[in-house]
Amino acid sequence: MNKLITIERHFVEEQKRSPHATGELTDLLYDVAFAAKLVRREVVRAGLVDILGMAGTTNVQGEEVKKLDLFANEKIISAIGQHGRFAIMGSEENEGTIVPPKNESGKYVLLFDPLDGSSNIDVNVSVGTIFSIYRLTGDNPQKADINDCLQKGLQQVAAGYVIYGSSVVMVYSSGHGVHGFTYDPTIGEFLLSHENITTPKRGKYYSINEGSWQQLHDPTINYINYLKEEDEETGRPYSTRYIGSLVADFHRNLLTGGVFVYPATKKHPNGKLRLMYEANPLAFICEQAGGRATDGKERILDINPTELHQRTPLYIGSENDVRIAEEFEQGKR
Ligand code: AHG
Ligand code: MN
Ligand code: MN
Repeated sequence: MNKLITIERHFVEEQKRSPHATGELTDLLYDVAFAAKLVRREVVRAGLVDILGMAGTTNVQGEEVKKLDLFANEKIISAIGQHGRFAIMGSEENEGTIVPPKNESGKYVLLFDPLDGSSNIDVNVSVGTIFSIYRLTGDNPQKADINDCLQKGLQQVAAGYVIYGSSVVMVYSSGHGVHGFTYDPTIGEFLLSHENITTPKRGKYYSINEGSWQQLHDPTINYINYLKEEDEETGRPYSTRYIGSLVADFHRNLLTGGVFVYPATKKHPNGKLRLMYEANPLAFICEQAGGRATDGKERILDINPTELHQRTPLYIGSENDVRIAEEFEQGKR
């Protein structure tokens, strides 16, 4: 019987690896895990929400009730904001930054996508939450501003995601490897189920929205056609797997090997996915697991952010696969 290690216990053990840790990051990760349990509770009932009066209708008190991604957003902001452990927050659902009451500020920054893959929520396909944590750039939480949210992905102190699928799994890294925890509803805990996740150097899956074929630039077309060629030695043709929820496609490729591609297209000249709360946190996880993440030219974690909601092309997954994709994108193949 393997040990039952809760995610909270794991956070504490991880903290012991950093002698100067004050425990604040551990507390923030606690709050993220708690928020994930609140979001999970609603997401797994998604099919019932119409009956229960959610998703865009008004409830018995006549209050306008939220779509699940806005619901998740509010749950995360309230569950995490109540402890004053962050100084400033950025969410996909909020145009500007969110700052807690001045007297409760902590020294961390939280950026998140409350519900990723929201177009899939009504058809019972896996969706997720993605989060990214930085330290404040200065030492005065009262002075926290947008510049604290616009740090390079390299500066992340922790990042992770929750995937609400056939089981609910929370995956995180605080710089010492990648670890996955499966939610056990009978005890209401995330239990360690995937310790030290490493991703294969080469996979057998590629993920891209082939419906955008007419939108793709030639180098991307050449790369995808390369993956479809017959070549036993390099395990081609790859199989295509595209769920339409980045977290679900990323999680499968992380475990089995593969590459996810959302490139610059004629319709999305900078790609569709957001740098700060989709690409950066998943790139942090991917590199910690031995994978690679670039925008086709440079490492995602090296990109200098200029806007909170800026988009980036994204090639992420098994190292060798991403390197080949880059060679195509840079015209070297
Ligand atoms: P979100 O629901 O947070 O807006 O994210 C949706 C993203 C991502 O999850 C997914 O990979 C991508 O949109 C799918 O985009 P296409 O439908 O254009 O393929
Ligand atoms: Mn998303
Ligand atoms: Mn979202």
